[in-house]
Order: sequence, then C-alpha cells, then structure tokens
Amino acid sequence: MESLIFATNNQHKVDEVKLVLGNQFHLITLREAGIEIDIPEPHDTLEANAKEKSTTIYQLTGKNCFSEDTGLEVMALNGEPGVKSARYAGDAQSFEDNVAKLLNNMVGISARQARFRTVISLIIAGNERQFEGVCEGKIAEFRTGGNGFGYDPVFIPDGSAISFGEMNGIEKSAFSHRKKAMDKLIDFLKQSMF
Ligand code: IMP
Repeated sequence: MESLIFATNNQHKVDEVKLVLGNQFHLITLREAGIEIDIPEPHDTLEANAKEKSTTIYQLTGKNCFSEDTGLEVMALNGEPGVKSARYAGDAQSFEDNVAKLLNNMVGISARQARFRTVISLIIAGNERQFEGVCEGKIAEFRTGGNGFGYDPVFIPDGSAISFGEMNGIEKSAFSHRKKAMDKLIDFLKQSMF
C-alpha cells in the first residue's frame, strides 16, 4: 500500500484525514516518522505555506508527503483572518482567543458569509501538486457544540442548521473543505498509480 507522510502536528487534522483516507493509503504522522519540528508558515498565502510545509518534510525525509494550510475567510472582514487564522489573536493565542476576537469583530455585522479554504500540497517523487477544497457558510452569533477544533463552534456550513462544533467527524466531512481537497488528492493518486 502507498505510504504518505502527513506534514502536520495537528491531531484534529490527522483524525479528519484518516477518516477520509480509510485504508486506501497508509498515512504516517510526523510523530510516527520521528520528526519533531514546528513547521514554519511564514508566507502570506495558503498556497505558499502549504508548499513550505510539504517541502520542509520532503527535504528531511525524501519520502512522499503532503501538507495542508487552511484559512477562514470572512467576507465582511475582507477575507480575514484568512492565512492568519491560527494566529488571529496573536502568536501565542489559543483557539478560544481567536474565536473571541472573531466574534468581537463581527458584532453588529449582519452579512456573516464566510468560507473555509484548504490548500493541500502533495509531493510525489519530488514533484509538487496542489488541491483546493472550499466550504461556504456563515459565522454564528455565538459558539455551539464542543466537537472539532479552531473556529468549528462558530461556523455553520451552507445547507446545515448546526455548526461544525455540533457535528461528529462523519457529519463534518459531508461539508468539509478538508474532505473536498482530500478527495481531489485521492483521485489524483489513484489515477497516477494505474
Ligand atoms: P493551519 O494554519 O492550517 O494549521 O490552520 C489555521 C487555523 O485555522 C487553525 O489554527 C484553526 O484555528 C483554523 N482551522 C483550520 N481548519 C479548521 C477547521 O476545519 N475547522 C475550524 N477551524 C479550522
């Protein structure tokens, strides 16, 4: 079975990606690969950060790998927090602080359209390829649910009455940006193998 290193230290992302991959490919986490580094995200686009992460791990291991970078783009905030989603409330801040800042910045705003956008960077035999997944939705007025991570408790995908925070993994994957990008990656891998 084809093995792929997933270049992330975020266990929530690992869980979501494993759910999508099932047993089609063998996923190796950074921890399992014996790599303990904080991968840099120095750029101002998701595409460049995703490439930086996969390239870093490819240079370290020489093995097929992929990374992803995700941002929450809120229309009324001109696309913010976007590429800064992880550090919206500051470098050392928590998911909780980032959500609090977002809700605060949205007070009094009725146009609450937003989208999650994931960019996956895959490196196979030294060649890089990217896949995008988008989930449209809106920012809720307050947090609901304790599932997921990041902005999940305040993001309601289009076509749903509940937030990602109220969904289990399978329910979230019916809408998820990450799942859509992963599906494209899986299609590509299957086509290039046969
Ligand atoms: P990263 O830079 O790709 O690790 O992600 C940026 C930030 O976006 C994370 O720290 C989370 O706060 C948020 N984020 C990424 N993906 C999701 C998601 O699926 N749900 C909720 N928040 C997310």
